[in-house]
Amino acid sequence: MLILGLETSCDETAAAVVEDGRRICSSVVSSQVDLHARFGGVVPEIASRAHVELINPVIAEAMVEAGCELADLDAVAACNGPGLAGALLVGVSAAKALALAGDLAYIGVNHLEAHLHAAWLEEPDLSPPLAVLIASGGHTLVVSVEGHLSYRVLGETVDDAAGEAFDKVARLLGLGYPGGPAVDRVALDGDPAAIAFPRPMFGEGLDLSFSGLKTAVAYHLRDDPDAPVADIAASFQEAVVDTLVSKLLAAADEIGASTLVLGGGVAANSRLRTRVADAALDTGRDFYLPPLALCTDNAAMIAATAWWRFEADGPTDFTSGADPGARLPPPPGTS
Ligand code: KG4
Ligand code: ZN
Repeated sequence: MLILGLETSCDETAAAVVEDGRRICSSVVSSQVDLHARFGGVVPEIASRAHVELINPVIAEAMVEAGCELADLDAVAACNGPGLAGALLVGVSAAKALALAGDLAYIGVNHLEAHLHAAWLEEPDLSPPLAVLIASGGHTLVVSVEGHLSYRVLGETVDDAAGEAFDKVARLLGLGYPGGPAVDRVALDGDPAAIAFPRPMFGEGLDLSFSGLKTAVAYHLRDDPDAPVADIAASFQEAVVDTLVSKLLAAADEIGASTLVLGGGVAANSRLRTRVADAALDTGRDFYLPPLALCTDNAAMIAATAWWRFEADGPTDFTSGADPGARLPPPPGTS
């Protein structure tokens, strides 16, 4: 089954063709980073307009790269939430239009479920239960994955997402947008032990919190404006990573998972990747860190997830829209 997937939930316009939920035939991502950089963050209306302009060329490129035409496809999928309302509607509308024109199935896909599936794309043999940390610009959650469509959220951020904290701190440090990669780069030259920033909600269950940490960085800068940026970046990053790794390990203990998995844009962080690998080795567990292109937003994860969803639930109704506040679907048989 050949599925064209579309992803337009935030600031990447992406299209990919994936066969049977596993083989990536093409994956094209057009980032809008340059358009949003001067505003220091994603501007929803600019994102929607850029998606409108980019969606057709990106789809065309994905189809050419996969060597296929509309008639070769079995379904068209789009991310239908969570995300920015106007941005989501561009992908959802494009997918429905193509599906109607080609007499194909339409499949709406949850963005968080897609981040969970990114790991399976390159590592189909991962065996549940998996302890998965999804950390992105909009979400941070620790999930027990019990099967392809069966997950339980064990903990999530009570305020800012981890990626949001990276972006805000990068802004405070004058490192530009997007902040995560910039902090990651600058931190390489800093001392992670230079400043003892707080580890919010450390040892207190599986929920997370990052807004106090961001405020602590702001106060530190106010009190010591000449502090080396590299040390602040490295110390802040260490506080985030300490928190994320401890929650992931606690989740793995709770569900008896022998494999740790990362997903979402923050999973591209070099320090987090090293620390999760070390933590897995220290605790006798396996780990899987998806390649960077599958951690950040992409459409291959949408098309792959669509295949599993279609197998279980069939096509999505054409009358269904986008749900900007969508949560991870509950396990089958519950509501
Ligand atoms: O998953 P994603 O591409 O989009 C959302 O669904 O939000 O995640 C984007 C987030 C941004 O906040 C970005 O700063 C962060 O992921 N990010 C990173 C790194 N690369 C991207 N954070 C820390 N270190 C990185 N290397
Ligand atoms: Zn994402």
